[in-house]
Amino acid sequence: MLEQALQYAHQNREHFLNELENFLAIPSISTDPEHGTDMQKAAEWAATQLRSIGMNNVQIMPTGGHPVVYGEWLQAGTRATTVMIYGHYDVQPPDPLELWTTPPFEAAVRGDNLYARGSADMKGQVIASLKAVEAVMRTGDMPINLKWLIEGEEEIGSEHLDDFIKNHGELLTCDFCLNMDAGILGEDKPSITTGLRGLAYFELRVYGPSKDLHSGLYGGTVHNPAQALAELIAGMHDKNGRVTLPGFYDKVRKLSKKERRDFARLPITGKEIKQQSGVPALWGEPNFTPAERLGARPTLEVNGLLSGFTGVGSKTVLPAWAMAKISCRLVPDQTPEETIKQLKKYLKEHAPRDIKWELDYLHGAGAALTATDNVGVKALSKALETIWGKKPYFPREGGSIGVVVQLQKHLGVESVLSGFGLPDCDAHSPNEKLHLPTWYKGIDALIHFIYNLKA
Ligand code: BES
Ligand code: MN
Repeated sequence: MLEQALQYAHQNREHFLNELENFLAIPSISTDPEHGTDMQKAAEWAATQLRSIGMNNVQIMPTGGHPVVYGEWLQAGTRATTVMIYGHYDVQPPDPLELWTTPPFEAAVRGDNLYARGSADMKGQVIASLKAVEAVMRTGDMPINLKWLIEGEEEIGSEHLDDFIKNHGELLTCDFCLNMDAGILGEDKPSITTGLRGLAYFELRVYGPSKDLHSGLYGGTVHNPAQALAELIAGMHDKNGRVTLPGFYDKVRKLSKKERRDFARLPITGKEIKQQSGVPALWGEPNFTPAERLGARPTLEVNGLLSGFTGVGSKTVLPAWAMAKISCRLVPDQTPEETIKQLKKYLKEHAPRDIKWELDYLHGAGAALTATDNVGVKALSKALETIWGKKPYFPREGGSIGVVVQLQKHLGVESVLSGFGLPDCDAHSPNEKLHLPTWYKGIDALIHFIYNLKA
């Protein structure tokens, strides 16, 4: 029963936290081939959890990349709602390591927060879902059917999940998917996300001389690849912060008056973004508000740069090559495939003849808008209102989650997007943290959510 499940969750808070700490100790960095065994370990850890809370048919299922963890509980009957609960057990790389106050894979509580890579994004959210289900399983009759889909490639674009979903349509049949990877707008701002941006990620390499050269003997006669790369990158935006790739905005949907009103009502302000990011002033397209720029406008970002001499002291060198990691955030109806062509076209038109360039496409994800008129959104909305005492906001957010479009495309399944990671959780940054009071409230909200779905 509801009350007993809530009581169970309250009595076991410390125990839940310990289990989260164990999960966080596994450095499951999906992008780094050196962490292959850790990926396997994290998948096994999640499978063991599923079995221990009473799930059936728990399997670690191979994909072309990191495995998917599946589990189910289907004893609520054919009339009951079937909810797929999504999660990812992979995390982003922790570097730069020296900026962490405590080691990224040794979870540490300071004040109200738990610090570790993956604490907010999203092992904490996976544990919140597992523990809400555990609380209901241990204290009463689970009123809904459950299917778990826990992947290991979210942070690298969910590349192999696409085929997995396509090939396991029957296994994954459900009424909707609960996805807690999108976060919450604030400690006192419950939210259900209704849109995500897509992504196209690239590595661009520029080659000049066959080896690093003496900058005095060659400078002025050989185009410096670092400079050529910088020139190419500088040309990718105009003065108004618009991306200059040919055709980049062709498929971008115009915002309607209603959409702009909805954006204006969101509690996302430039002031907060300034504060969280620590920049002296904001940047971006002047004709759009910060909330619109994050939720409904595409971007191009340089994620990293590498070239030449970067050690201590000085070395007068003209480097042989330069490299940039570049990614575009996409909005409906842009696609990663078209973005690849647009960037290639830009490079063909703008790269000078005195250098050579190579472009690799690493991975991507589609942009998504989600439906809000389904039982899942209603049940979660009511649950958040019960716990937070106010109705949730319905933002469109800037991050990307590959599975959302994949489920729409292959199965016609909608995702209910939320989570309990705060905007200042420092996901993908040093000292990532999970705000524990919000997390505990989130577990309670998920228990309510389950009971709200009772037929
Ligand atoms: N949890 C984030 C996505 C997110 C963040 C959604 C904030 C909504 C609000 C997710 O784990 C993530 O970071 N995804 C990557 C995916 C990419 C590599 C395809 C991202 O957005 O960079
Ligand atoms: Mn995540």
